[in-house]
Amino acid sequence: MSAAAKTELAGEFKKLPRHIAVIMDGNGRWAQRQGLPRTAGHSAGADSFHRAARYCQKLGIEYLTVYAFSTENWKRPREEVDAILELLERYLRQALQDMEKEKVRIRIFGDLSPFTPQLRDMCRACMERSAVYTGAQVNICLNYGGRDEIVRAAERWAAEGCPPLSEERFGSYMWGGDVPDPDLLIRPGGEKRISNFLLWELAYTELYFSDVLWPDFDEAELDKAIDAYRHRQRRFGDVGQEA
Ligand code: IPE
Ligand code: IPE
Ligand code: MG
Repeated sequence: MSAAAKTELAGEFKKLPRHIAVIMDGNGRWAQRQGLPRTAGHSAGADSFHRAARYCQKLGIEYLTVYAFSTENWKRPREEVDAILELLERYLRQALQDMEKEKVRIRIFGDLSPFTPQLRDMCRACMERSAVYTGAQVNICLNYGGRDEIVRAAERWAAEGCPPLSEERFGSYMWGGDVPDPDLLIRPGGEKRISNFLLWELAYTELYFSDVLWPDFDEAELDKAIDAYRHRQRRFGDVGQEA
């Protein structure tokens, strides 16, 4: 390979997102389209999440942050909420079993206090036991709301006696205060909205919307999203580079 080609490859490689965030949407419609209960869609969505996490790890994406349950999702029928939480528990149990093989750091962002002690313990165990892994990190947003996160950040700041603030310092009070902001946000499922996800962190994130429903969002769809990202020009308010 020529030096120029190598440089180009390195340049392209650099453009891979370091952090991908995903609003895992469309599970219910996926199930309904097949005449199945919505809970079957959540089960398929959980499989899709597992597949996406493995693929991102394979590609060398450092951080994957997924929206699994929002502070607004409590409005759903009790059976649906229970089914989602049960799937989560199952995922975490499996993650604990496979931890040494998968070597992924798992973090949960959100207020866990409304959950059962069992689910809370499992979240804690996953976070603690996986904290040794530094290669890939999966952040699961659970009972998470962007506005709630900002209010809690303000509360934590106030509890520390209101020290002088900067954007960086305020950001450090967020759930993932030490995690770089997402480079790419993917929302499958056809809706073009943020739905209270990562309101602080998405300030300069590239947005990618797809009509594909989350359970069908496979490796090829992730490739498409990453490819679209790599063709974006990020300016962060500056003027663009000449072509
Ligand atoms: C996303 O899929 C999963 C959660 C919100 C937990 P939905 O359940 O919102 O699926 P649709 O949008 O109704 O199809
Ligand atoms: C966002 O999806 C929440 C998650 C994917 C966890 P929703 O389905 O709850 O969002 P809306 O209600 O369509 O905005
Ligand atoms: Mg939805």
